[in-house]
Amino acid sequence: MTLDTCVGNLKLETPGMGASGIMDETGKSMARMLSSGAGAAVTKSIGLQPNLGHKNPTFTEVKGGFVNAMGLPNPGIELFKEEMEAAVSAGKVIGSIYGATADDFVILAGKMEDYGAAAVELNLSCPHAKGYGMEIGVDAELVGDIVSAVKSSLTIPVWAKLTPNTHILKELAVAVQDAGGDAIVAINTLKAMVISPEFGRPFLSNKFGGLSGPAVRSVGVRAVYDIRTVVDIPIVGVGGISDWRDATQYIMAGACAFQVGSAIAAKGLKVFESINRDLEEFMRDFGYGAIKDMVGVAHE
Ligand code: DHB
Repeated sequence: MTLDTCVGNLKLETPGMGASGIMDETGKSMARMLSSGAGAAVTKSIGLQPNLGHKNPTFTEVKGGFVNAMGLPNPGIELFKEEMEAAVSAGKVIGSIYGATADDFVILAGKMEDYGAAAVELNLSCPHAKGYGMEIGVDAELVGDIVSAVKSSLTIPVWAKLTPNTHILKELAVAVQDAGGDAIVAINTLKAMVISPEFGRPFLSNKFGGLSGPAVRSVGVRAVYDIRTVVDIPIVGVGGISDWRDATQYIMAGACAFQVGSAIAAKGLKVFESINRDLEEFMRDFGYGAIKDMVGVAHE
């Protein structure tokens, strides 16, 4: 019995990765994650220029999760080289990138490939960034153009991270597949708002943020299930996973691997070891020899 899995031709020793945005700003933090049972680490989303992000408050806890609008803070792709070097020497690193145009994504993806990324993850889904993320990621034609532009300039796999904040999710998934995308990552955060009753104003400085954590899990599982009905390319499930049971739901909906985000903030990096251990126990008890034997079984 084995926990290894493949996302297309990328083999992972364990099926859980660190999701973009959590403990992934530095090479050292990604290296720690990779030695804590994660099969890969996904970087914070990196853009062309250094970006300070939004002013505080940028993050708050809510019932069932977190709402954040960090504003895509990052050092820019040139300075990120050093962090990538430290991370890739510890294991597989997926380079998450954000841009406003296909040309931006092509430049960023090329750098990530040069830095040793095992794949790139296109952030087409941040729910609150003007001109980026979901603003471009809900236009199927644009999504297809970006994926095919990046695909034709790279040799490493191209993954597209999609938003659940749309009624055309299936169309977007088909656009990714038709453009040659190697995998779909679903879901990013749900567009959200928290209001402070005392101040009578939205709590976050950006007003809008992204909801993550257990509250979004059933939306994510449904999204993966829906996507599986329209495409054959691999799906990576993400959203509210904190234990084996959550991870297994995504796998049975159609994902061949998964990512953990908020649960790292809530429980620390030990979450990977506990998911791996409990998932193995479940698989042994229920006669599954490999992750691939569970992928999509909920459709049968
Ligand atoms: C941010 C980016 C995201 O993709 C997301 O889902 C939530 C927040 C950010 O940096 O603000």
